Amino acid sequence: MLRLITLVTAMLLAQTATAKTVLITGSNRGLGLEFVTQYAAMGWDVIATSRSPEDDQDLQAFATANKKVTIEKLDVTDLDGITALAEKYSGTPIDVLINNAGMFGDRPRQTWGALDRDLFRQVMDVNVFAPLKISEAFAPHVAASETKKIAVISSTAGSIASIRNPPGAPYYAISKAAVNMAMRGTAMLVKKQGIAVAIFMPGAVDTRMLREAVGLTQEEAETATDYDYKQFQPLTTEESISQMISTLDALSMNQSGDFLNYDGRTIPW
Ligand SMILES: NC(=O)c1ccc[n+]([C@@H]2O[C@H](COP(=O)([O-])OP(=O)(O)OC[C@H]3O[C@@H](n4cnc5c(N)ncnc54)[C@H](OP(=O)(O)O)[C@@H]3O)[C@@H](O)[C@H]2O)c1
Repeated sequence: MLRLITLVTAMLLAQTATAKTVLITGSNRGLGLEFVTQYAAMGWDVIATSRSPEDDQDLQAFATANKKVTIEKLDVTDLDGITALAEKYSGTPIDVLINNAGMFGDRPRQTWGALDRDLFRQVMDVNVFAPLKISEAFAPHVAASETKKIAVISSTAGSIASIRNPPGAPYYAISKAAVNMAMRGTAMLVKKQGIAVAIFMPGAVDTRMLREAVGLTQEEAETATDYDYKQFQPLTTEESISQMISTLDALSMNQSGDFLNYDGRTIPW
């Protein structure tokens, strides 16, 4: 009997020791939902944040079928919401924090001759300030974990070295260049806590955002099933996310703050 109790205790302790936690922003669709799916399949506890969980049928269905997934409401521009969520999980180690939520922004409102300041502020708020602030808020949780990694999903649209023509969506491109600097600096700030930071280009991936990037409006991108990806040979979300997870898993402190393709190759700033 004593032997059985010892064995069960050891198994429970082993399970506790190996349970890892990931927090993902913008997890209701696209790349975010695929991060949720793959980390859950790996047996991780997943904190899946979304700004409108009540509307997220796919995420809700997945979480209902998978008890490792906890949905939390978070608009990444809601500062009180960020603080409240960080407090709610105070004392919970978060192995990996993925700043995935992002927006493209209406093209006509970021076109030369019609530059709209409100949209600029909104894009910068979602794509730059939010990942910076969320990384600040959750750095203690990540530092308390075993894995200690933070990622942001950036884009080659933000690569200044690669630009050859004026960007089709300048606010988006500006925001991704800015978030690269934000997270490069973050990598330096959190280095002493042993946290490694990845700045990712996920590839051109078949999501609503890519449809916006090839010229569809937000409404068209949501419903379109037949569209021209022009120069892109898009990856599936499965391909992009499985490779990003592997790259993140292998990320060393020496690579912290680097701008990386989903497959681990370095991208010019
Ligand atoms: N797909 C690509 O080819 C590609 C290439 C380079 C970079 N990226 C980056 O990859 C990330 C994910 O994009 P995706 O391709 O999966 O596009 P997506 O399908 O358009 O998903 C964008 C996600 O961000 C969320 N989001 C937007 N604003 C938010 C806010 N204020 N608060 C919380 N969540 C918010 C959206 O939530 P709602 O449903 O509530 O709007 C959605 O979950 C983005 O950062 C994007 O810039 C994508």
